[in-house]
Amino acid sequence: MRLSDLKGHWALVTGASSGIGEEFARQLAQAGMQLVLVARRDERLQTVVQALRAEYGVEARAIAADLADPAAVARIRAELDSAGIRVRLLCNNAGAGRWGRFEATDASVYDELNTLNTTTLVAMCRRFFEHLSSFPSSAVINVSSAAAYQPVPYMAVYAASKAFVQSFSQALHGEWKEHGILVQTLVPGPTATEFDAKAGAYESALVERDPPAHVVRAALAGLERDVPVVNAAKGTYKQRVFAGLAPHAMVIREVGKMFKPPEGT
Ligand SMILES: NC(=O)c1ccc[n+]([C@@H]2O[C@H](COP(=O)([O-])OP(=O)(O)OC[C@H]3O[C@@H](n4cnc5c(N)ncnc54)[C@H](OP(=O)(O)O)[C@@H]3O)[C@@H](O)[C@H]2O)c1
Repeated sequence: MRLSDLKGHWALVTGASSGIGEEFARQLAQAGMQLVLVARRDERLQTVVQALRAEYGVEARAIAADLADPAAVARIRAELDSAGIRVRLLCNNAGAGRWGRFEATDASVYDELNTLNTTTLVAMCRRFFEHLSSFPSSAVINVSSAAAYQPVPYMAVYAASKAFVQSFSQALHGEWKEHGILVQTLVPGPTATEFDAKAGAYESALVERDPPAHVVRAALAGLERDVPVVNAAKGTYKQRVFAGLAPHAMVIREVGKMFKPPEGT
């Protein structure tokens, strides 16, 4: 798929009020796409919408929605249908994490995280199939994480939710090829966004963070190469070899050391 084919068509980006999603919106607008931006913080979305219109002269609209509420997906689809908008690029980027001891976080936080990171992502793909398949070619970008490659003690639920994204998205890549829909699994490594602060991150071995622009450039270049998985993270080859070949106990122990909360927390 060439990015230039998407010019003038609509992209829907979830989690576009900050970080990687906001950067997706910017780079897609730069490529001439029209944008539907979804997140909870309406004011932030409106600011992004105004900036995209002014800077790139594209049409953009915001839909404020809590994607941890599964009912939101049907509402978004209905709103776009009634506006006559058909989505040609769906970017399922909204996501949340939680660092720390599993039992230290309330069960309701995990319910929301799982719904947002997995159930809603599946629902978005399913609900927008009719849009995507109405074009000769279209694309979905599902944002995973390098955390998907192995279990992560002290970030257990988040890593498991991204392992779900990783498996689901690659399977869908195989299924939707025949509909002309490219499903990309995007694997960012540590990225400089609001994510860590919201997830309750503490000092860990992860100190270097990529700028979101780097991650999004890799994703859009991956669309042009029609590849199922884009690794924007550094060092995932070694990580995957270690996770796949080392004894399970060693993988869990070594990864656990990197994410263990400081003593006394
Ligand atoms: N940053 C990293 O190191 C990193 C690494 C690997 C993967 N990722 C993945 O990258 C994606 C984007 O994260 P980011 O790093 O850009 O973090 P971010 O700056 O915190 O952005 C997260 C976005 O998701 C939206 N969001 C969160 N909960 C939502 C909800 N319930 N309903 C609707 N929107 C919601 C947020 O908007 P509102 O708060 O306005 O709703 C925000 O726009 C996530 O899927 C994350 O797992 C991040």
